[in-house]
Amino acid sequence: DKGGWSSFMAKEISEEPDAVANTIRGRVVDGLVQIPEMEGLDDETLRSIDRILIIACGTAAYAGMVGKYAIEQWARIPVDVELAHEFRYREPVLSPNTLVVSISQSGETMDTLMAVKYARERGARTLSICNTQGATIPRESDAIVYTHAGPEVAVASTKAFVAQITACYLFGLQLAQARETLSTDAVRALVADLQKVPDQLREVLKSGDRIAELAHWMADTRSVLFLGRHVGYPIALEGALKLKELAYIHAEGFAAGELKHGPIALIEPGQIVFVIVPSPRDERSLHAKVVSNIQEIRARGARVIAIAEAGDVAVLPHADEVIRIPLASPFFEPLLAVVPLHFFGMELAAAKGLDVDQPRNLAKSVTVE
Ligand code: BG6
Repeated sequence: DKGGWSSFMAKEISEEPDAVANTIRGRVVDGLVQIPEMEGLDDETLRSIDRILIIACGTAAYAGMVGKYAIEQWARIPVDVELAHEFRYREPVLSPNTLVVSISQSGETMDTLMAVKYARERGARTLSICNTQGATIPRESDAIVYTHAGPEVAVASTKAFVAQITACYLFGLQLAQARETLSTDAVRALVADLQKVPDQLREVLKSGDRIAELAHWMADTRSVLFLGRHVGYPIALEGALKLKELAYIHAEGFAAGELKHGPIALIEPGQIVFVIVPSPRDERSLHAKVVSNIQEIRARGARVIAIAEAGDVAVLPHADEVIRIPLASPFFEPLLAVVPLHFFGMELAAAKGLDVDQPRNLAKSVTVE
């Protein structure tokens, strides 16, 4: 039931705040993270892990990339992300101290399932982040963190994506607690900030009408580029994937720092570029670097749509359009920045008269290799 919405996707984007809230619910005790289903991986085991490999396909792999930045930073463990279908066929080096984290909305994606089985047979520990109770992948794993996005009907994932990122944050914080790599106060501060995200997402949903206008103006565009840096990089990839899947146009996401190493050659007058702008409050000074990237592409005639936090005035003179997101901890910005991109993919597809729930050639769950 679409509940009065024009499509399941429109409904599911509107549910992104609840997907995050429901994934956090029941996992915070006294301001700290306690994931009840993690019993299969007790604190002692979590302390013995020396490497994490996140495996997934499609959108779920981009959620894993966001997770990598957060988990590595907070728990001080090397984290890699790999597409499940690549992982299994290169004889990866695994040990009982390797934790393989799979991410899957359906829990039935064959490539991901086979990668989990492979990892388990070779002695690695396995954790499943999954949206479907009792699905095959969680049943094959040592421990499970369910995302509580609710059933997702539209083929292209939206609310499950933000729930997957949220689950990665919770897992990263639980790991940091077990390994004492963050102080209790630091964890509490991050948890409190994460708990604010659902309300902040409700704010971001208000940008939907403006995005719909932009998408209708751009209905004839043949190519859109997305730039992001740090945790904004996977969001650029996700924005591009949604346009390919939903609107069938060429779209690519790039790490903003890579611009001068190639992608800038693509910039010609009129090229539309979405830029996810890091917070000016971020101590890594990535904001200034990305603003300078914007200047470089604008000087070559690109039309820039910036997604930037409220109060970031430095970006204003350089962008054709600024979509605002509320102030959040830098690690949590991906949850806020992705929503305008989910809207954009859906609205551009709608402007082209396409079926946003059932894009051509795609299946919700790919159960063959
Ligand atoms: C694809 C879907 O086929 O499978 C994507 O179209 C999804 O939306 C990917 O991200 C992985 O699916 P799952 O269920 O493993 O998260």
